[in-house]
Amino acid sequence: MDYKKAIIDAVAKAAEIPAEELLPLIEIPADTEMGDYAFPCFRLAKQMRKAPQMIAADISAKLEKPDFIEGVQVVGAYINIFLNKQRYIEDVLNDVNKQDGSFGGSDLGQGKTVCIDYSSINIAKPFHIGHLSTTVIGNSLYRIYGFLGYKPVGINHLGDWGTQFGKLIAAYKKWGSKEDIESSAITAMLGLYVRFHEEAQMDESLNDEGRAWFKKIEDGDLEALEIFNWFKELTLKEVGVIYDMLGVHFDSYAGESFYNDKMQPVIDELKQKNMLELSEGAYVVRLGDDLPPCIVLKSDGATLYSTRDLAAAFYRKKTYDFDKCLYVVAYQQNLHFKQWFKVVEMMGYNWAKDLEHIAFGMVSLEDGTLSTRKGKVVFLQDVLNKAIEKTLTIIKEKSPNLENKEQVAKAVGVGAVVFDTLSSARIKDITFSFDRVLNFDGETGPYVQYTHARCASLTRRADFDWAAAEKDYTALDSTEAFAVAKLLYAFPETVQKACEKNEPYLVTRHTIELAKAMNRFYYEHRIIDDNKAQTAARLELTACVKQVIKTGLWLIGVESPDRM
Ligand code: ARG
Repeated sequence: MDYKKAIIDAVAKAAEIPAEELLPLIEIPADTEMGDYAFPCFRLAKQMRKAPQMIAADISAKLEKPDFIEGVQVVGAYINIFLNKQRYIEDVLNDVNKQDGSFGGSDLGQGKTVCIDYSSINIAKPFHIGHLSTTVIGNSLYRIYGFLGYKPVGINHLGDWGTQFGKLIAAYKKWGSKEDIESSAITAMLGLYVRFHEEAQMDESLNDEGRAWFKKIEDGDLEALEIFNWFKELTLKEVGVIYDMLGVHFDSYAGESFYNDKMQPVIDELKQKNMLELSEGAYVVRLGDDLPPCIVLKSDGATLYSTRDLAAAFYRKKTYDFDKCLYVVAYQQNLHFKQWFKVVEMMGYNWAKDLEHIAFGMVSLEDGTLSTRKGKVVFLQDVLNKAIEKTLTIIKEKSPNLENKEQVAKAVGVGAVVFDTLSSARIKDITFSFDRVLNFDGETGPYVQYTHARCASLTRRADFDWAAAEKDYTALDSTEAFAVAKLLYAFPETVQKACEKNEPYLVTRHTIELAKAMNRFYYEHRIIDDNKAQTAARLELTACVKQVIKTGLWLIGVESPDRM
């Protein structure tokens, strides 16, 4: 049942004002002594021409109390509403049970398509810890949108174009070996890349060689393309291992090179609309006083990153007819997105408003940041492997008898890294620490997963068919059980909010709160005892928590093993 709506309706009737006007007023007091829901009446004073305190008193006197409301209290200008706890808990559990795994989902987005551009790695470059956020935020948004009935399209806009690939081929021809590249792909390519930059500092002519090779790629030279495609294939294969570990999926790998033959029509249209201006040899679009001009063509006629993004947006609109197109990219690129979004808007396309940059902050390791040029890179693969290894040590200690320790360590280790990345608002910078993310007692992935496994174990352990048994819900007449039920009830709204704001961390936080509330309940109340009807009620609550944690973790791309 929709308690929030039912309460708003009851208050609206008593106050004789439309329910929509009350919707923004209703609050959930942080202190439960102040009720389960509250209405501050300050903002009604003007239209009702009365002091807020009087309004509160009047409304509460007139309020017809449906049976799920246990009490109403007026404190100053607040109407505090107390729910009938037992009825509420029973109702919420029933709801979660009925919908099973789909509890929290909806068909809100039915018929709507959302393109999500995420991960978008660069060919021949390491998948380093800096790509973690875009990959896991994008993956989570992909799942959240899908869960709410949208049709998500996951796009890996590969960085597979640019002069650096000419340099890489030049370096490969000079110093590379097929065996090296085949055996350690990205590391070998990175080595070549670094060496090229070092040697080019002493010998300028190398840069010309690099340019010449890039020209060959552009001109479709067979040898150049063959080497380049081979680099691409090996990069994707290597990165694919990480995507598998993270459970990440893409519907399209159309990258920058895909748009080689799709930019001219956009350039023509810009010309035709008189938007292109020659400035210091380059073609630019002026964007007014607030933004620097967007360069569309360089003086040598070469296209840019923005030109490709423009072409890609038109292609996506045409191909997917999206309702929204999201770009999960670090905040360093704020200006880039502002600029070319503005170009689309100035071209007169009103869907420019549906393009959205989902910016996020930096991830650094405790001992400093990362850079590709100098070759001091932290490979994400290494971070994940180390997390798994450390988790395995912890598990061996904590649960020596557990079967499939390796498998569980993988789910927990990888999950811990993902969970931590999605624990705070996107825009915050994060300093990654193994000790913090793997702390089984902190606000971490392992803590939430452990709570889930504990719930699984409780529901397994009972020696009777509790699901079918008669239940005595007086066993749940406690503040702890009530707190759990409230979090279960709030889950669908949380998922919706996470979707509206494109903020997966709201789901992550919810799983933490739910796990904490469940553990409080668990410590205060014996779950399995001799009274079957009461045990059955407590196990039902436990099973619902298990279900919602599992869904929440799934939405952020984290697994939930039943035993750990
Ligand atoms: N490959 C780019 C980078 O690593 C990110 C691409 C983001 N997507 C886009 N459509 N621009 O910086």
